[in-house]
Amino acid sequence: MIEDILSIKTLAEEDVKKADDLGTIQSIRIKYLGKKGILTDRIKSLSSIPKAERAEYGCVINETKDYIERIITQREEEFKTSELGTLLKARHIDVTVPGNFVPCGHNHPTSNVLEEIIDVFVSLGFRVEDGPEVELDYYNFEALNIPKDHPARDMQDTFYITDDIVLRTHTSPVQVRVMERDKPPIRVIAPGKVYRCDTDVSHTPMFHQIEGFMVDEHISMGDLKGVLEMFIHAVFGANTKVRFRPSFFPFTEPSAEIDIGCLICKGRGCKVCKNSGWVEILGAGMINPRVFEMVGYNPESYTGFAFGMGIERITMLKYGIDDIRLFFENDKRFLEQF
Ligand code: DAH
Repeated sequence: MIEDILSIKTLAEEDVKKADDLGTIQSIRIKYLGKKGILTDRIKSLSSIPKAERAEYGCVINETKDYIERIITQREEEFKTSELGTLLKARHIDVTVPGNFVPCGHNHPTSNVLEEIIDVFVSLGFRVEDGPEVELDYYNFEALNIPKDHPARDMQDTFYITDDIVLRTHTSPVQVRVMERDKPPIRVIAPGKVYRCDTDVSHTPMFHQIEGFMVDEHISMGDLKGVLEMFIHAVFGANTKVRFRPSFFPFTEPSAEIDIGCLICKGRGCKVCKNSGWVEILGAGMINPRVFEMVGYNPESYTGFAFGMGIERITMLKYGIDDIRLFFENDKRFLEQF
């Protein structure tokens, strides 16, 4: 009888040794120790053993049961650990590896300069207005004192959509639209896209301008000078030299072009300022009484000044960029520098 138990022990040992996964080891436990297991069966039959032998026999069975239980549990643990290991390996996350880098964009340099300029004028009490990019010839030219046959139209290479509709060539038409609608006092800036049929290192078919104007009683050229000087010193630095030069625009009288001392060569002369020491940054003037008449203002009661500037040009001067087309090529090597 004792031999029987010892052979069960050997069988169990072999089974456990052969088992190669957790499922098998669990079925081995059932085979030997389950309710109807081989060893359980022997324990149940213990009562039929003659009393004299029962104690020794019972002792061997118990020891064998404990032994089998132990080797099964041990093997079970081994499988569990290695299965967990495989699982962990499969789902492995190394928290020390640097994460995927998500590149973060930023504003375009012209947008930054535009915002900066808007901030300066808003702080001086100007409000921002908008106008259509597809504009009537009337607003783009006629109401600004540029009649159809006027030679000043040659200054701007216009994209015509029909005889009467154009892509606006400047932001000045916003002046007319605002004045038609509102009465003075008015202090407005109008940023936006403008279009001209032109392309080279300093021209692109689309670029940005900011228009500004102020109308009230007793507005003088002195106000224009004061506002523009404040603006220039805020954007280019307090020591920037400013020069007003007589010029011509049909919608202003008198007209001026405003130059600043070249930021690149500090006035000594370079390629950017064409050796003059000065670069032009905007056009301006006192609003022509003819424009006031077109919008129904009495030129005897009101005066005003207006100015207009190209944002790309100002951005180029501010950062020393020598080709305007870089702004529109979307080359990250260029854009990342700002
Ligand atoms: N509209 C002009 C242009 O695009 C710029 C300009 C000049 C605007 C003088 C003005 C001004 O308001 O007074 O060339």
